[in-house]
Formats: sequence, structure tokens, C-alpha cells
Amino acid sequence: MTSPALTNSSQASLFDRVGGVEFFTKLVEDFYSQVELAPVLRVMYPEDLTEAKAHLALFLVQYFGGPADYQALRGHPRLRMRHSPYVIDVVARDAWIAAMLHGVGLSTAGPTERAELIHYFDSSAHSLQNV
Ligand code: HEM
Repeated sequence: MTSPALTNSSQASLFDRVGGVEFFTKLVEDFYSQVELAPVLRVMYPEDLTEAKAHLALFLVQYFGGPADYQALRGHPRLRMRHSPYVIDVVARDAWIAAMLHGVGLSTAGPTERAELIHYFDSSAHSLQNV
């Protein structure tokens, strides 16, 4: 029997290993503090970042094994489709990755979790580059 908190490898989800919702709330805050400083990114986002922060945090919580509140609120992520209105070139992509890695750097994640987060953000950002 596997408990919902366990993956197939019997290891707790990354969500549980890093300490839950609070971890992702802080990560997203730190990420957006960098977005504020990067004009190439900032112009794409609405002036009020409240919703954008909430959606990204809920998505990451869900993706890394926490509650599926993102799906309940927003439906299927369809990230490629949701990013199609924005011109994401290599510069925007790398600015996004840098902002997120800044957040990961400030986080309390240990080396294993840090490596998993970096790998995921790097590969998902590459997959969302659309020009
Ligand atoms: C590659 C560079 C990226 C750029 C320039 C970018 C930009 C954006 C922008 C402008 C929004 C809309 C925010 C709003 O109006 O509320 C957005 C939404 C979002 N992005 Fe990205 N993004 C990037 C990569 C990523 C990656 C790698 C992920 C996943 C880890 C991600 C996850 C999301 C999520 C979950 C949303 C909210 C979707 C929703 O509306 O429910 N983005 N992004």
C-alpha cells in the first residue's frame, strides 16, 4: 500500500520534503521580486501581480505533490497554451530561469530538492520558449 504522500519510489513528495505550501509561497514571492527588476519579464505581467503569484504558487504546489487546488481553480494547466500570448524568446526564457533560480537560491531546500527544482524549472522554461 502506498500512502498518497509517497511516490512510487516510496520517497515523500518534494512538496512534503521542502515543508509544504509555505515553501512555495516564499519561492514565488522571491521569484516575482526578480521579475519586478527585469523589464523583459515585467512588461508581460499585469500591473497587479496578486493573481499571477497565487496561480504560480498553486501550480507549483500541485506539480510537486501537494493539494490539487490549481486544477480545481484553473482547470488543466496547459502551460504551452497559456503562454502562447507572450513572446518568449531566449532572452525572456533565460531571464525567467534566472529569476526562479534566484528564488531557489534563497530557499531552504536541501541539495537534492534544489537539484530537482532547478532541473524542472530549466526544462519547463525551455519547453515554453515559443519564438
Ligand atoms: C519561459 C519563460 C516564462 C515566461 C516569460 C512566463 C510568463 C508568464 C506570464 C506573462 C504569465 C501570465 C501571468 C498573469 O497574467 O497572471 C504566466 C503565467 C503562468 N506561468 Fe509562466 N512564464 C514562463 C515560464 C513558466 C514556467 C517554466 C512555468 C512552470 C514552472 C510557468 C508557470 C506559469 C503558471 C502556472 C502561470 C499561471 C497560469 C494560469 O493562468 O493559471 N511559467 N507566465
